[in-house]
This record gives sequence, C-alpha cells and structure tokens, in this order.
Amino acid sequence: MALVFAMMSKIFFLILMMMMVVVTIVTGAKNTNNVYDPCSDTKIQKQDGFTFGIAFSSKESFFFNDTALSPCDRRLSLSTASNNPQLSLFRPKVDEISLLTINASSSSSFPDNQRGYMVAFAGRKYAARSSPTFVANSTYTITSFTMVLEFQKGTLQNFHWKRDGCASCSGKSSFVCLDKQDCAIRTSSCKDHGGSVDCSLGIQLAFSGTDKHDDVLNSWYEVANLRQYSLYGLYSNLKNSLTS
Ligand SMILES: *[C@@H]1O[C@H](CO)[C@@H](O)[C@H](O)[C@H]1NC(C)=O
Ligand SMILES: *[C@@H]1O[C@H](CO)[C@@H](O)[C@H](O)[C@H]1NC(C)=O
Ligand SMILES: *[C@@H]1O[C@H](CO)[C@@H](O)[C@H](O)[C@H]1NC(C)=O
Repeated sequence: MALVFAMMSKIFFLILMMMMVVVTIVTGAKNTNNVYDPCSDTKIQKQDGFTFGIAFSSKESFFFNDTALSPCDRRLSLSTASNNPQLSLFRPKVDEISLLTINASSSSSFPDNQRGYMVAFAGRKYAARSSPTFVANSTYTITSFTMVLEFQKGTLQNFHWKRDGCASCSGKSSFVCLDKQDCAIRTSSCKDHGGSVDCSLGIQLAFSGTDKHDDVLNSWYEVANLRQYSLYGLYSNLKNSLTS
C-alpha cells in the first residue's frame, strides 16, 4: 500500500496537470466519503464525492504480461519517463450527471501517439479499471465519451464506456465514425494542430447499481433516456466547436 501510494503521489507531482472543469448539474447534500486517494478502497452513498483517476498513455503501457491492470498497480511501468503518462483526478458527486472536460490547449502535446489511450481507475483491493479506450492519434481525435460507474452496495465494480454507434454525429461532415462506434474529428482540424476546432475532451459521467444502503443509483438511467439532450448542449464553448 505504502509503495503504491508513494508511486502514485510521485506521478501526480510529475505530471503536467490538465485543466479540469466539472460541471455538476444538481447540487446536493454533504459528503461522507473521506477517501480522496484514487488508489484506496471506499464505500459510497448517494451524494458523496467519489475520487477516481484517468490515465492517458500508449495502449501497451496499460498491460503487464498481456493482462490489463489498474494504473494503481505498480507492476505497470506507467511511472517511467518514456511512457510519460498524464493523469487527471476527478471527484464527481455520486449519482449526479457530470461532464468532465480536459482542456486540450492547456496541455502541451495532447493528443499525441504516446498518450493515445485512456483508462479510468479507482480502488486497491477492489481495483476497478475501464478497458483502455482510443482517444487520439495523429489522424483522428475523439472528443466525446460517456462513462458509467457501476457500484454494488457502495463498492465500485466497474467503469463502462457507453457508445451510441455514432448516432450523435451522423450526417455531420466534420466527423468520421470509427469502428462503427465513436465519432472522431480529424486531428488536423484541432486548434492545437493548426485547425479551428476546440478538441478538448469531454466525458459525460453517470452512475448505476446500488450504494452502501442499497439505494439504487439512477443517473445512468436518466442519461440513457435523455441521450439526445447531451450535456454538451449546456457547455457552449464545446457545443460551438463540436457541431460546426
Ligand atoms: C505471464 O503469464 C504467463 C502465462 O499466463 C505465466 O506463466 C507467467 O508466470 C507470467 N509472468 C509473470 C512475470 O507474471
Ligand atoms: C482552454 O484553455 C485556453 C487557454 O488557457 C482557454 O482560452 C480556453 O477557453 C479553454 N477552453 C475550454 C473549453 O475551457
Ligand atoms: C489512428 O487510429 C485509427 C483508428 O484507430 C487507425 O485506423 C489509424 O491507423 C491510426 N493512425 C496512426 C497514424 O496511428
């Protein structure tokens, strides 16, 4: 534990911090979760804050001996300079719909081939991680994701990437549908690559399962039903650049 924590602390100090904006739609009751370290275990209830991390790196760097591991696992060589990962920490409120954004222009060379994939992670004994998912390379950049955090009795079980089969970009000429699941922009259209589009990354977040009192988390159900009224509509900066 101490080792893992020391390693993570070191990484967090070394990394280039990216600007994060958390847009919380509803404000509510107070936090009872005092775990702020993404590599520790916790049990949550509705309205708690919940800390998790997202690591950006090459796809291979998330694997050890052909097995995908949590970035908290020190068997991954994520801390070595050559991998040069970027980590972002978020603390959304449980069961509220949030939009996490990572400002592309405030980070020196994002996206690039070194950090083309991302993994969301939290926990130690009950370590959960998402599958590594493609974000960007020199040809394509995906700017919008939906992720669901699934809990059972307050313990995080899994991170799920949810995809709409490119429904949100069908008919928009500036987008390309990758693998019939993700809407991508050409990286050359991004502002930090000489284009005009703000390619900041947006991750719409929702929750499913149950909290430690067995209360059902509903926000994923709400997002699934309101899909066409994506949170991006509330975020005018991105809206302008994403729909143009
Ligand atoms: C890697 O995986 C193989 C096959 O599963 C296993 O035999 C080997 O012991 C593993 N190596 C390490 C270092 O864990
Ligand atoms: C990103 O950062 C730049 C420079 O700091 C700023 O001008 C821009 O408005 C930011 N974009 C978003 C979407 O926050
Ligand atoms: C970028 O990613 C796309 C989709 O995954 C892939 O088809 C393409 O070959 C990649 N291009 C480069 C230069 O890595």
